[in-house]
Amino acid sequence: MIFLGIETSCDETGASVVVGNDGQKRTRYTILSNIVSSQFIHSQYGGVIPELASRAHIQLIVPIVKTALEVAKINYADLDGIAVTYAPGLVGSLLVGLSFAKALSLSLQKPFIGVNHLEGHIFSLFLSYPDLETPFLALIISGGHTELVIIKDYCQYQVLGSTLDDACGEAFDKVARMLGLPYPGGAFVEKLAQNGKRSINFPVPHLPDYNFSFSGLKTAVLYYLKAEKNPVPENIAHSFQEVVFDFLLKKIQLAVDEYKINQIGVSGGVAVNKRLRDRFNEYSTEHNLKFYFPEVSMCTDNAAMIAAVGFERFIRFGPSPLSLAAESRVKL
Ligand code: KG4
Ligand code: ZN
Repeated sequence: MIFLGIETSCDETGASVVVGNDGQKRTRYTILSNIVSSQFIHSQYGGVIPELASRAHIQLIVPIVKTALEVAKINYADLDGIAVTYAPGLVGSLLVGLSFAKALSLSLQKPFIGVNHLEGHIFSLFLSYPDLETPFLALIISGGHTELVIIKDYCQYQVLGSTLDDACGEAFDKVARMLGLPYPGGAFVEKLAQNGKRSINFPVPHLPDYNFSFSGLKTAVLYYLKAEKNPVPENIAHSFQEVVFDFLLKKIQLAVDEYKINQIGVSGGVAVNKRLRDRFNEYSTEHNLKFYFPEVSMCTDNAAMIAAVGFERFIRFGPSPLSLAAESRVKL
């Protein structure tokens, strides 16, 4: 079956054509195209401006979908379904993709499937590792989300914890801003940290359960910057990053101990961080764990992961109603 995926939940406009082959224990996905356009207009404001994001999606959605079909060498008539992110995200941005997908579904008389963006990040793991055995733990660390989830099977999840305040990527972005780095700042923090050392004792957030919190750490960086006469940005970036990784590993170990699952998939934009991958892989050899990191284009927002979820949901639950509304917050 051939599915078109559409993603417009934040500041990436994405369209992708994915073929899913049913009938095996594990689906084989073939990505025929995966087009993503990132909006750079927000960098001058230091964060995403929702109104500008929706306007940019409106301008981009038609050419991006057309390109996705052209690259995949298929026509609209070849599609078996249209999957689109309906939540969570910026409502104005979501509405662009959602309305477009509904209109396409109506005019082509093809099934419409609304997809939870977080489930998309989980499916980026299935796309990169089609043989990944369940159950496994998934850690989603992106600009908008921080979630620790047990993946029992396709479409069967148990959420263990989420962030209580800032998302992991958001903390990187805010610290980047304090250090005068461009937006989005995660990759710049990583780069700066390469020339620094762990010389500052920022506090590791302390929460007894599976939830996450990054605002205390962010504030500690701010206070340090205010108090220190000659702060060394490289050391701040390095020390901050290491505390974040310690914190994430602590939560993972808690889940490993309780649920006896030693496979962990890590997705979302922060999972691109090479130092994170090295630290996690080092930890895995010491603690007999196995980490799975999707390729970079699958970690960050893309529509292939949305198309893959659409396929799995459609074969299990059928199409979504056209009355499905965009929602800024929704649980997995
Ligand atoms: O998954 P994503 O593309 O979009 C959301 O769903 O939010 O994630 C974007 C986030 C941003 O906060 C960005 O700063 C962060 O991922 N990020 C990084 C790195 N590359 C992107 N954070 C740390 N290190 C990186 N190398
Ligand atoms: Zn995302």
